[in-house]
Amino acid sequence: MPAGLHAALWLIKWTACCVAAVLPMASLSAEARAGEPKSPAERGYRVLVTKPFLPPDFDRDVFANLWTVWPEPLQSQAREADAAERRRMAFSRYGLIESPDERNGGSEPALGYVDDGRGGWVMNCLACHAGKVAGSVIPGLPNSHFALQTLTEDVIRTKAALGRPPSHLDLAVLKIPLGTSNGTTNSVVFGIAVGALRDREMNVDRSRPAENLIHHDMDAPPLWNVRKKTRLYCDGHAPKSHRVLMQFMLLPTNDGETVRGWESSFRDVLAWIESLRPPKYPWPVDAALAGRGEQVFVEHCSRCHGTYGDGGEYPERMVPIDVIGTDPVRLKALAPEHRRKLAESWMTRYGADRVDLEPAGYVAPPLDGVWASAPYFHNGSVPTLWHVLHPRERPAVWLRTEDGYDREKAGLEVETFDRLPPDVTAAADRRRYFDTTRPGKSAAGHNFPDVLNADEKQAVLEYLKTL
Ligand code: HEC
Ligand code: HEC
Repeated sequence: MPAGLHAALWLIKWTACCVAAVLPMASLSAEARAGEPKSPAERGYRVLVTKPFLPPDFDRDVFANLWTVWPEPLQSQAREADAAERRRMAFSRYGLIESPDERNGGSEPALGYVDDGRGGWVMNCLACHAGKVAGSVIPGLPNSHFALQTLTEDVIRTKAALGRPPSHLDLAVLKIPLGTSNGTTNSVVFGIAVGALRDREMNVDRSRPAENLIHHDMDAPPLWNVRKKTRLYCDGHAPKSHRVLMQFMLLPTNDGETVRGWESSFRDVLAWIESLRPPKYPWPVDAALAGRGEQVFVEHCSRCHGTYGDGGEYPERMVPIDVIGTDPVRLKALAPEHRRKLAESWMTRYGADRVDLEPAGYVAPPLDGVWASAPYFHNGSVPTLWHVLHPRERPAVWLRTEDGYDREKAGLEVETFDRLPPDVTAAADRRRYFDTTRPGKSAAGHNFPDVLNADEKQAVLEYLKTL
């Protein structure tokens, strides 16, 4: 039997018997508790790296065996490799990140996963919200490498071979694609799907009608800009509050009381997010050129993106969709009825924290640390700042290198194509290419830089490195 079919039959078998299984949460390990965090922000980070809020996606045995389902020649290379090299290969394939914190060497979960105390890997916020740029790990940077769909597909096949039960994510992927381009995820749709099973008090109610889902992938924004905002998400529809951040844990295995009981932890998580500061550009900058760029920026960009440095101001400006012209799918996918659910629930204190039911477009984000947070726009369709500034020269298809940084164009080091190369057929390979011709992935719009000449663009590019 082909491996894919075998995995599918195995999933159906387990779906029938085990969907409702609730795995009890294990307590935190003694090591993770060591040293009391002092400020709310420190407590928030500690919560993120130690507390399992969900059941595990898989465990360390499954992780150690993933290579057995890899395609050739990768599988043979892994067979020859030692455990450390195999782990490195797995982290590379799935866009996982080694924690910068001190760890015990080799078997602990990636940053963004928490050990459940029994070797299980539990996904956490940092899976999408801690990334690396030019090889350096930065908490709060979006994980532009994360290959969640590929990881989950390999986990399903590995568990099938080992006779292990599927997790909630293995079952979810039957209905909802997790992400069709690496580095981006269908997370807004997961939110809609799990939110659909809750009443306004956050209690689980499976009798509620299923939602109409428009799948689309999003690039997470850098979290260090949250402190400048009063509203969250690319369309600014949600109020900034710790309760809104709790959407991630609405898996039906967490009942309403449990979710509400985590409120104080999420106050701390928001404090951690607001304590973040943008990373500094680590290479030399031409200060004179950047100075000229600042003048151009103030004249052409500041009305939307604000001013920087001492006394800088952020206008948090909403730009209507026909003016911005970037991909509209995200705006439509989150329909007024989805937003209304948020507006009428405990998450927004039943509307006391205002929800915008019909946002007109996308909010111009702060550009602090923008050199680091490639790719750009809410769907992650544009690989460098140079390409943001040259709307007509954006690539139709691009493939990044793992850790390369393009200092000339400021952003990802990429190879570009007019269309997806025809020899790229396996789904896991296709997801390594960003294909802007697919639905929800357009790199069009934001044509404001068109009024600048080549020298002005060069100067603005240099200035953007300093933010
Ligand atoms: C599977 C990936 C994923 C996970 C896990 C995840 N997020 Fe996000 N997050 C995103 C994406 C994508 C967006 C952008 C959504 C949008 O704009 O519509 C986002 C947006 C946000 C924002 C809004 C930022 C802004 O500038 O508007 C905050 C804050 C945030 N996430 C915090 C969290 C926290 C806290 C957790 C864990 C409880 C978490 N996220 C888990 C992917 C993820
Ligand atoms: C009319 C308002 C407006 C003007 C003027 C404007 N922008 Fe933007 N900009 C936006 C909006 C809105 C977005 C978000 C678009 C999206 O994600 O779909 C954006 C996104 C960006 C991004 C990507 C940010 C990210 O994190 O993905 C960069 C970089 C940027 N703008 C730079 C500039 C520069 C440089 C100028 C001046 C030449 C400029 N913008 C002028 C509204 C504007």
